[in-house]
Amino acid sequence: MTNRPALPAEIARRRTFAIISHPDAGKTTLTEKFLLYGGAIQMAGQVRAKGEARRTRSDFMQMEKDRGISVSASAMSFDFEKYRFNLVDTPGHSDFSEDTYRTLTAVDAAVMVIDGAKGVESQTQKLFEVCRLRDLPILTFCNKMDRESRDTFEIIDEIQENLAIDVTPAAWPIGVGREFMGTYDILRDRLELMDRADRNKVAESIAISGLDDPKLAENVPAHLLEKFLEEIEMAKELLPKLDHESVLNGSMTPIWFGSAINSFGVKELMDGLATYGPEPQVQTAQPRNIAPEESKVAGFVFKVQANMDPKHRDRVAFVRLASGHFERGMKLTHVRSKKQMAITNPVLFLAADRELAEEAWAGDIIGIPNHGQLRIGDTLTEGEAIRVSGIPSFAPELLQACRAGDPMKAKHLEKALMQFAEEGAAKVFKPTFGSGFIVGVVGALQFEVLASRIEMEYGLPVRFEASQFTSARWVHGAKDAVEKFAAANKQHIAEDNDGDVVYLTRLQWDIDRVGRDYPDVTLSATKEMM
Ligand code: G4P
Repeated sequence: MTNRPALPAEIARRRTFAIISHPDAGKTTLTEKFLLYGGAIQMAGQVRAKGEARRTRSDFMQMEKDRGISVSASAMSFDFEKYRFNLVDTPGHSDFSEDTYRTLTAVDAAVMVIDGAKGVESQTQKLFEVCRLRDLPILTFCNKMDRESRDTFEIIDEIQENLAIDVTPAAWPIGVGREFMGTYDILRDRLELMDRADRNKVAESIAISGLDDPKLAENVPAHLLEKFLEEIEMAKELLPKLDHESVLNGSMTPIWFGSAINSFGVKELMDGLATYGPEPQVQTAQPRNIAPEESKVAGFVFKVQANMDPKHRDRVAFVRLASGHFERGMKLTHVRSKKQMAITNPVLFLAADRELAEEAWAGDIIGIPNHGQLRIGDTLTEGEAIRVSGIPSFAPELLQACRAGDPMKAKHLEKALMQFAEEGAAKVFKPTFGSGFIVGVVGALQFEVLASRIEMEYGLPVRFEASQFTSARWVHGAKDAVEKFAAANKQHIAEDNDGDVVYLTRLQWDIDRVGRDYPDVTLSATKEMM
């Protein structure tokens, strides 16, 4: 991944990124502060008060009711200096990891937030690995430095070792815990002092001519200065220097230290994202890749959110523009159906408000309200039959049979389930044998959310019951080989909501057996959404 020199200025100033973190590390707080610095002050405090991961079941139900709020937090655009930042929210709960994965296909960089006292936690590690698969550049923010935190070298070592990435300090903390007073900005030779009294105040910044500048001693108590100078000497010796190319190809992460709640270190992180974060990148697609500077518009759907307004069955497809300059009213080709769509009421997610998007550029995220035509993985272009690739669907880890409480309403159940399947909220399989549906999810909580949404949105009580199957695999192969296989294994065969053939079983042994007995087909735990 490299910065391409020839991007039009409007595209080059865009930074599209996500924040990844373990629950409680401070993602929500940091998001609020980004918006504060981005001038969207009215938004601070409106971002959900708690990270999604800590939500209880009832919070989720409430969240479904408040979809208007959760959607405006799904993508947020704001200006920072001469840059346009597009922050795409990743759902925090591990049950929604597939959604997270797809969200990360829509960004060019990630900010990894870690808690200075806890270091790299399990969810951080998982999300990091997803970023790694795409070689996404990662900027690290070590948060909560105002509290007792681990030794700076220890934190850096842990990131280097657990995540196998080079870490370069962009700033170095001065003092820890109660004595934490700020950081030394290594990239710009500045002393940044934290104001504990006013959490929303921009930190004081003092330009320094170097580590021997007497201004350091004037502002930093002697015992802290001595330790700091010792550490920074060691850091310079032991740690790699910031190398822009390595940051862009994802092999090095610069780390900032701060305290989101005290608005400290946030601006420096944003400056880092502006300076070192990549411009909109080339999108992998078939039969050819899409470059952001291409004059024609192309974009792809990475997320669908339904029923934002319960009175209307509308959905919003979140589209990442891969190239060109989009203008409202444009007619775009929906590549999957080959039909034209006039995009008359696209939405830009400017901080708290959903605003009509008059125009957007490669890198931006726009919302397109629709009635179900747009699905995850769909590509929109100005006519060319080109499809963005690399947006996967994963085999669910939990399967349950779903039955309508009222058998007369089975048709409605099918409609409801298909909607959720298209939204990416669940996998829905229709077995060849028997009636009913098998629903697959990643985490058990999703069954409850689904049941509640079906009841709320379709007035249909449903039951989820144990299924005779526990695993699902897509059957790939030549058409006749797949058909032959399906005919011979009818009791295991189902169709997913796209009509693709799926093999259901409860035994790993079965899956292994298919591998031996049917060399012409493969069973796969992933499917490309195209
Ligand atoms: P999340 O989205 O990653 O789950 O984290 P969130 O921002 O909700 O922050 C988790 C907790 O950590 C919150 O406290 C928040 O106030 C606190 N926090 C965030 N940044 C800092 C920081 O720089 N220093 C300190 N000391 N705390 C920080 P809470 O008590 O769980 O919630 P609340 O009562 O403050 O809302």
